[in-house]
Amino acid sequence: MFDVTKVKADFPIFKHHPDLIYLDNASTTQKPGAVIDGVKNFYEKENANIHRGFYKIAIETSKNYQSVRTKAANYLGAADSKNIVFTSGTTESINLVAQSFLEPRLEAGDNVIISAMEHHANLIPWQMLCQKKGAELRVIPMDQTAQLDLSGYKKMLSEKTKMISVVHISNSLGSVNPIEDIIELAHEKDIPVLVDGAQSVMNYEMNIRNLDCDFFVFSAHKIFGPTGVGVLYGKEKWLKKMQPIQFGGDMIKEVSFEKTTFADFPQKFESGTQNLAGVIGLGHTIDYLEKFEKKEVMKYLEMLGKYAIEKLSAIENLKIFGNSNHNSNIISFNLKNIHPHDVATFLAEENIAVRAGQHCTQPAMDLLGIPGTIRASFTIYNSTDEVDKLVKSLKSIQKFFA
Ligand code: ALA
Repeated sequence: MFDVTKVKADFPIFKHHPDLIYLDNASTTQKPGAVIDGVKNFYEKENANIHRGFYKIAIETSKNYQSVRTKAANYLGAADSKNIVFTSGTTESINLVAQSFLEPRLEAGDNVIISAMEHHANLIPWQMLCQKKGAELRVIPMDQTAQLDLSGYKKMLSEKTKMISVVHISNSLGSVNPIEDIIELAHEKDIPVLVDGAQSVMNYEMNIRNLDCDFFVFSAHKIFGPTGVGVLYGKEKWLKKMQPIQFGGDMIKEVSFEKTTFADFPQKFESGTQNLAGVIGLGHTIDYLEKFEKKEVMKYLEMLGKYAIEKLSAIENLKIFGNSNHNSNIISFNLKNIHPHDVATFLAEENIAVRAGQHCTQPAMDLLGIPGTIRASFTIYNSTDEVDKLVKSLKSIQKFFA
């Protein structure tokens, strides 16, 4: 049985801030003691650089670093640990695919497809590349309920489409996108697909092999891990062919003044000293997550999301953006005639942490004709009591501004 009180006790931040109602999990999640201790232990007891030392702790750390690759592969259901590249996060992963994978394949007159609700990190790298190459950036339209228009998507696929990059769960609107359909339609035309899983990797039973996307990206810090570390999953057939875009130590086979040959993938993409503590921390994060029955976590989150939507929908003059049937634990809303920043400031006074604004998705906000939203995002340490407190505070804000 999922016990939220017990889960919350795993997170030391709530001992230091017992009254904090943290509903900004789509920004970053809090860290369990097991992850914090794991990183501390690494620095205290194991710290050494990898792939360079002949001494015990260097050998151990090299081994542990690689074992996190295997854990990440298993977590995603990837075929092999070689499919996993460590990066600094989702943003770097997408930039890497844009520059290393797509740039050499993209020509003037080609097109790249993204959706109308992309985070800037899944928009600007493709936009910059299209501008550089004289290619077109096509955008899958969304309606006012923040659902993507699949028939519009079908129509924009063409012989000239070289890449599709879509978000699974929208960080700003909470929409859950039909990525299975998007991938299937793309693959009928042999078009590779990247899925931005930054907000979805926690909520879904991921099986990357069944999903069959070509690339999948996420950041550790959104699933209780350290900041500054992320995962790029790529199919072997692509990673093999891709050239590194950052050069330096630890990514080479042989170097002379005339010529360099590169290490095999994934190592050729991990130049310089990597974020060792971050990767080790990610390993502890996955261990922590695997203590839970994923189905129970998903059931709990679904219950909490439904409860929150039901309670928030019942508030007069509160508008939820996005599809209220979604199962994403991200709820974006506004109170009529009150600016989202004022609401967030007021909530902060009550120790309730939310994000307010455009959430790095300015074009999506423009399409909805709004300056921004208030976003409450929930995870495993949040409770229905906290939803009730949020609802109570929102009602008093409305009274204050009336
Ligand atoms: N991408 C993070 C968010 O949605 C920072 O808040």
